[in-house]
Amino acid sequence: MTRRSHVQPFFDPATWTVSYVVWDRATRIAAVIDPVLDYDFKSGRTDTATADRLLAYLAQEQLRVEWILETHAHADHLSAARYLHERVGGKVAIGENIRQVQAIFKKIYNLERSFLPDGSQFDHLFKDGESLRIGELEATALLVPGHTPADMAYLIDDAVFVGDTLFLPDVGTARADFPGGDAHQLYASIRRLLALPPQTRMCGCHDYPPPGREPQWETTVAQQRANNIHVRDGIDEGTFVAMRQARDATLEVPTLLLPSIQVNVRGGQLPPVEENGVAYLRIPLNALPRADGPPAHA
Ligand SMILES: [Fe+2]
Repeated sequence: MTRRSHVQPFFDPATWTVSYVVWDRATRIAAVIDPVLDYDFKSGRTDTATADRLLAYLAQEQLRVEWILETHAHADHLSAARYLHERVGGKVAIGENIRQVQAIFKKIYNLERSFLPDGSQFDHLFKDGESLRIGELEATALLVPGHTPADMAYLIDDAVFVGDTLFLPDVGTARADFPGGDAHQLYASIRRLLALPPQTRMCGCHDYPPPGREPQWETTVAQQRANNIHVRDGIDEGTFVAMRQARDATLEVPTLLLPSIQVNVRGGQLPPVEENGVAYLRIPLNALPRADGPPAHA
């Protein structure tokens, strides 16, 4: 039986991110999930080559975008949500707890007064359990906090887009030590996702493959429950939290965290241009803890 939905992944090797276009075969209405805006740290230059691949696909398949869904305020890439919205429309949406993340980072970056931590930078804020439609496809937004307080997963047809909660079974789970993160909450959120029907397809937002394995992004609830190195069935909350906290203490801050989050709390809008016509990113000095391990997200 052919599925009613089509899931098209786009892997960005520069940030190990997987973006998706999910569309309804009956109406050709689409949702874009977690689009990437390229950013070269050394030159401070943004680029739309990766986002333009998405646009080319949308045009080729003659899709109409109704939603641009963010799973969370990413810490490893800038979002292309606003860029895509300006070209093809679609409501830019994220979980309503983004307000908490905005409040935390407004302080850390000392953002301009006119930046309000009220979610108004997005076109829609989801509540936990809220339904949405993508053409004739039924979808549900699920609050899955822990990696950040605002993480959402999107259950669309027979697939769940889990953002940074779980990765592939041999990689495990996302770190829970960013401001507002919580390993206990992450465990509860993951168990919630693992309670979905076993055949549910699980589509991740990143892959960090171990040596010798090609990047992958899709697995199933059953495979995660059997094999996930951090949260397979039988690993209790205490064991998970102890592992997560010990590991997180060794992980370096992701390379693009400081540039990314200040753009992503604005829904992918770049900071306002200053009097000289240039927009600036801000780097708070001595505000984040430092560790010397790998700059891992997992
Ligand atoms: Fe993340």
